[in-house]
Amino acid sequence: MLANRVSRIQPSFTLEMTARAAELRSQGVDVIDMGVGEPDFNTPENIRMAAKRAMDEGFTKYTPAAGMMELRQAICEKLKRDNGLDYSPQQIIVSNGAKHSLSTACQALFNPGDQVIIFAPYWVSFPEFIRLADAEPVIVKTVSEKNFSPDYKDLESKINPNIRGMIINSPSNPTGAVWDNETVLRLLDYATDQDWIVISDECYEKLVYDAPFTSTEKLNQNGAAVLTIQSLSKTYAMTGWRIGYTASHPDIIKAMSKIQGQATSCPNSIGQKAAVEALLGDQTVVEKMVDTFLKRRNNIIERLNQVPYISCPIPRGAFYAFPNISHYLGKSANGKKINTSFDLSDCILRSAKTVTVAGAGFGGEGHIRLSYATDSETFMEGIRRIEEALSQLD
Ligand SMILES: Cc1ncc(COP(=O)(O)O)c(C=O)c1O
Repeated sequence: MLANRVSRIQPSFTLEMTARAAELRSQGVDVIDMGVGEPDFNTPENIRMAAKRAMDEGFTKYTPAAGMMELRQAICEKLKRDNGLDYSPQQIIVSNGAKHSLSTACQALFNPGDQVIIFAPYWVSFPEFIRLADAEPVIVKTVSEKNFSPDYKDLESKINPNIRGMIINSPSNPTGAVWDNETVLRLLDYATDQDWIVISDECYEKLVYDAPFTSTEKLNQNGAAVLTIQSLSKTYAMTGWRIGYTASHPDIIKAMSKIQGQATSCPNSIGQKAAVEALLGDQTVVEKMVDTFLKRRNNIIERLNQVPYISCPIPRGAFYAFPNISHYLGKSANGKKINTSFDLSDCILRSAKTVTVAGAGFGGEGHIRLSYATDSETFMEGIRRIEEALSQLD
């Protein structure tokens, strides 16, 4: 009865973990959720007010498929101000979140039989966007001891004429790693030599803690075809508003607009008005949020590294820690063997009532992902519980 495409893709297991936590909570269980992928702040007031004004003033209708001109101009201004990039509104398409931008980009760019490189550990949705476009993901390893930068030997061994592009994601979900300019430049060189399209998912660009962020396109000196994809979700605590955007060559933007116009007509008009205020209004709220995340990051990493046999490199961006837990694989909980990070995550949920996300789901077996988009007291208690649960394994 169903199309083959349904069985080709996996459900979003990060959303499944959130649903499991919600279910346990509804049963009255005191659950700590370290699986969350969104800021724990409300959207700033100036942005909420802009949305209210938009509704009162009647901005409640369809907009052009690629988004209203006022927002596309605001995005160009932002890209110039924050990333030093020159784009015109014809080079911008606004979508229903960066997730929608990424999936529309894959639909517009890839054909059956095409291959697209992604780097493991990867965000769970990357392989699925590629499969939904009837193309095939090619997974390239990274080196965890080297800031999760690409394993170039593995990359070279996988080069073949079917590869059409690659997705890069720095700062990364799930590792929090931020690649240095040298790494991105090296990948851009491969892209120009091999004629690959580069999709740069920069949705955590503002959440960097140790060095300024440089957009991939800013480093692109040899004319590689780059799609810059950014989002308002994490930067302005706007995950539910669903606004993200793509900046690229006008032909690519036109193709994406054609698909988007038939899929959703346009992004939400009220969210678009709010996005103009977010991008052009007071930015000090972002600085405050980053400051809070930085303090939390320092606390969580210090504490995690005190847990016996766990090691966690310092994530330079996003709000995730990705500790190595491989010491605990092969042990048993109440006679049940823990073979994978899925088993461990499940055991932690059952015995410590704490939600974590298994690294294996991100192509990073031997790790779990912990989010610190939650207050310090909560995640400290979460780690205490995890430590206790791990100490009871035989
Ligand atoms: C790496 C990455 N890209 C894109 C997104 C999508 O963000 P949104 O669709 O909310 O803009 C997420 C959300 O978790 C993400 O982690």
